[in-house]
Amino acid sequence: MTNTKPLRAPDLPAMKSRGEKIVMLTAYDATMAHLLDQAGADVLLVGDSLGMVILGGADTLEVTMDDMIRHTRAVQRGTRRALVVADMPFMSYQASMEDAIRNAGRLLQEGGAMAVKLEGGAPMIATIERLVSLGIPVVGHLGLTPQSVHRMGGFKRQATTVEAGRQLLEDAVAIERAGAFAIVLECIPAELAREASARLHIPVIGIGSGADCDGQVLVSYDLLGLTSSAPPFAKRKANLDQIVVEAVRKFAEEVRAAGSA
Ligand code: KIV
Repeated sequence: MTNTKPLRAPDLPAMKSRGEKIVMLTAYDATMAHLLDQAGADVLLVGDSLGMVILGGADTLEVTMDDMIRHTRAVQRGTRRALVVADMPFMSYQASMEDAIRNAGRLLQEGGAMAVKLEGGAPMIATIERLVSLGIPVVGHLGLTPQSVHRMGGFKRQATTVEAGRQLLEDAVAIERAGAFAIVLECIPAELAREASARLHIPVIGIGSGADCDGQVLVSYDLLGLTSSAPPFAKRKANLDQIVVEAVRKFAEEVRAAGSA
């Protein structure tokens, strides 16, 4: 990797305007953050997917501010170049503006994040505006928003009707106007993500939303083959699960053989 200058929030829209694609991966600890950063990931997202990937939950709803702060600090310690973005967990920003400001501030101050990501469209516009005005860079998130899993009735593809697509584009434009510097579009039709990428000046980072976005994000454990239930769009680039099992088997054999000698 040649460019080692640390990336900051304004660099992402600049990358879009230069036609450079943005690589975002989730990270939850310092060791993995160090490897992903070394490999050239542009953005490390401390996703609240940690509730599923790391804590083994069925969804992201149990993740707390304390969880996010601890994991964000670990990721920040392992990172030199990538921009570290922390997810605002469920109910840390929805109930009041005061909650949103205090908790976003904690992610920067105590966690060392350089930006926060929050889910939702129209109801979140005032919050995004306020956080940005206070100096906190914000990434939006529309489409499949995992914190609304119960309203959606499961982790399902979103914006599949003309009306829902129109609403999503309207929300995406409003998020850009509110001052967000990037937006994640999760599990929406590829044509809709392409249209959003063309219409917005800020980068659209897609996940399960086709190739025509300004960047892509994946859960790193899915990419590396550490999870057994990755979504179909998360193509494995390695089978680390097999490597781990094999290494532990070899170690166990050695230990047991020595014990029986
Ligand atoms: O929590 C997360 O990991 C995310 C990404 C999948 C976009 O929000």
